[in-house]
Amino acid sequence: MTLILGLETSCDETAGSVVRDGQIVLSNVVAAQHELHERYRGVVPEIASRAHLQNINPVVHETLKQAGVTLDDLDAIAVGHRPGLIGSLLVGVSAAKTLAWAANKPLVGVDHVRAHLHAATLSPAMGPDPLSIDPQTTPSPLTFPALGLVVSGGHTSLYQMTSPTDLTLLGSTIDDAVGEAYDKAAVILNVGYPGGPKLDKLAQQGNPTAHDLPRSMLGKDSLDFSFSGLKTAVLYTVRGHPKGRGAAAKFERSIDDLTESQVADVAASFQAAAVDAVIKKLKRAVQYMASQDNAPRSLVIGGGVSANSLLRTRVAELGEQLQITVRIPAFAYCLDNAAMIAGLAHTHYLTDDFADLDLPAIASGSV
Ligand code: KG4
Ligand code: ZN
Repeated sequence: MTLILGLETSCDETAGSVVRDGQIVLSNVVAAQHELHERYRGVVPEIASRAHLQNINPVVHETLKQAGVTLDDLDAIAVGHRPGLIGSLLVGVSAAKTLAWAANKPLVGVDHVRAHLHAATLSPAMGPDPLSIDPQTTPSPLTFPALGLVVSGGHTSLYQMTSPTDLTLLGSTIDDAVGEAYDKAAVILNVGYPGGPKLDKLAQQGNPTAHDLPRSMLGKDSLDFSFSGLKTAVLYTVRGHPKGRGAAAKFERSIDDLTESQVADVAASFQAAAVDAVIKKLKRAVQYMASQDNAPRSLVIGGGVSANSLLRTRVAELGEQLQITVRIPAFAYCLDNAAMIAGLAHTHYLTDDFADLDLPAIASGSV
């Protein structure tokens, strides 16, 4: 039995988790900071890193307590060290190094984006005995080759996977990530913060065919994504075409001129277009892998937008249509969390892939 403590502080969630054997989650603690960023309608990096500093010790304490383990019981300490906001990452990386040094445990550095693709493999421990599991709900390991899709606030990326850690990037967004498009559309539609989940909920009350919004496909064979055109189309649909440019631009109307049902229709039309674009690229990527004699045996998604109601349904339908096993994370592991960090760290642990105490926090890029 291997017990790993994972820490995650790449954006605005301070998270800790203890995971057994890479899969069974004994605790999953997330301290969110939504109310601190709400008035800015987006994450303010300096505020986020200060809040991480306040939260990290209580989160570690609570994570160990809920798992019923002590530092001594752990086999390793893992941390998401790339990519993310640098000030935020530094808090988690420093805490993990300190704990690893103080408790004399190996340190594991985990890539946050790759960890999102591990989330679908996680399962909570069942019942009062943290070592018991429910075989009915415990997912089986991923089968390879797999097609991986990360849809988050910072990434929209397709990967060909031959193992949990052997990934080749097939395509990614050339402008906004799909979660970013959700967040920006949510600001335009004034649905509140955090935007993605609120927009998802509102979209379920609207008519998805009310507006024909663009699904950007880029080149004929492209596996890249683009969402900035969709965001602009939402702006023009809501406010009309502007006269003038930049700060001097004057729009025909404001969001307050739309009825509630009109706003819901724009939300639903946006959601239909965004999810359609993702599904079309997934299909293309399956065809591409098949053309390389590497047809995927499973399709795995992860990242905050994998919590989206329509995307979950459409990905499941796609799997049925193409006869590919689909793996979608439980809601608790879609958004940023540390269970995915501790879970993927187990793969590193098994190959003695440990980090030194000079493990850097790295803001951009993913490996
Ligand atoms: O993975 P995540 O927690 O953080 C990053 O690594 O970026 O993803 C956050 C993103 C945000 O853009 C948020 O709006 C989006 O995921 N999101 C959603 C939903 N829940 C979260 N987008 C659409 N529908 C949702 N239900
Ligand atoms: Zn994330």
